[in-house]
Amino acid sequence: MKEYITILGLESSCDDTAASVVRCARAQCADIMSSVVYGQTELHADFGGIVPEIAARAHAEKLDYCVEEALSRADLSLKNIDAIAVTAGPGLIGGVLSGVMCAKGLSAGAKIPLIGVNHLAGHGLTPRLTNQLAYPYLLLLVSGGHCQFLIVRSFDEFTRLGGTIDDAPGEAFDKTARLLGLSQPGGPAVERAAKGANPRAFKFPRPLLDRPGCDMSFSGLKTALRRARDQLVEKNNGLTLTEIGELSAGFQAAVCDVLVEKSRRAMRLFSAEFPTVKPALAVAGGVAANKAIRAGLLAVCEAEGFDFVAPPPEFCTDNAAMIAWVGVERFRAGKFDDSTLSARPRWPLDNHSRPMLGSGKKGTKA
Ligand code: KG4
Ligand code: ZN
Repeated sequence: MKEYITILGLESSCDDTAASVVRCARAQCADIMSSVVYGQTELHADFGGIVPEIAARAHAEKLDYCVEEALSRADLSLKNIDAIAVTAGPGLIGGVLSGVMCAKGLSAGAKIPLIGVNHLAGHGLTPRLTNQLAYPYLLLLVSGGHCQFLIVRSFDEFTRLGGTIDDAPGEAFDKTARLLGLSQPGGPAVERAAKGANPRAFKFPRPLLDRPGCDMSFSGLKTALRRARDQLVEKNNGLTLTEIGELSAGFQAAVCDVLVEKSRRAMRLFSAEFPTVKPALAVAGGVAANKAIRAGLLAVCEAEGFDFVAPPPEFCTDNAAMIAWVGVERFRAGKFDDSTLSARPRWPLDNHSRPMLGSGKKGTKA
């Protein structure tokens, strides 16, 4: 039996082209030997959102380069790779296809096994890569296209406790930034603008807190923000920097309050099912990079007796180390794919739950 498993991961489901090499000794934690990410922010900047055709073309152009760079930074060649793990969905079909075709080419050419990975599983299992978290745990997946609470039972067993019925929070951050004339991606821009500003200067709703359960809604919040902005613009012919800061801070606080309160409910459901497990809430996805949201979640975890696990921000946003890590877990379980692997733009993590309503920038929510 080999001492190490070495996996090359590829990611191209949205607007980041990424490759990574992750090496894992049989019984030890993993080493991220390289993680290369090429963002496409500038390519889409003039369009106010991601243009799928431009994204797909850029992925196709950058993937080979990313793979070379990831192998060279890890000081390895394809000969040292035990399997290629690639995002096969959910995501923008053109981008996912670019990655799957690239992985199939490498797999066939170098005779390396192929593993198709669910992008959301990549985010969801990241706390195991970065923090060695044991199953089962509660996961809040909160990104540009998704928002859901999941019980993670194993690398391919997820139970959804609730999720957004309309926009994902990342999408709402991005739209808020657009409304306030801030740059994309909107999350980091809104977070910067909100720093030090009064979050109570404007009153924003906390949608669905009055209803039981863990479902969430963020589109009304965006509408409330638009209304507040329009009133100010009508009155003063524009927004002051202070107002942009206060609107950003008010919006961020509302998202934070909803996520915190719904997390509390999800934690109680988790504890009811696993009364003897040392419980942990892990966050994953781009929005989990937000410091105010992280602080809110940490506080509710302390109050509910949960460990709080937040991967480093660069592994919260899209990257290929998380895909390689799912590759490690599937490799260990002997779960491989072959040249019939297909791209799945919609691919729910929890096959037993009904599909969520609404549609995000990546299409109907998985
Ligand atoms: O997970 P991710 O990189 O891509 C998807 O799979 O969606 O998440 C990207 C999303 C974007 O909407 C971005 O605005 C948001 O995550 N985001 C943030 C922050 N950093 C990224 N949202 C709030 N605060 C941040 N610091
Ligand atoms: Zn993602």
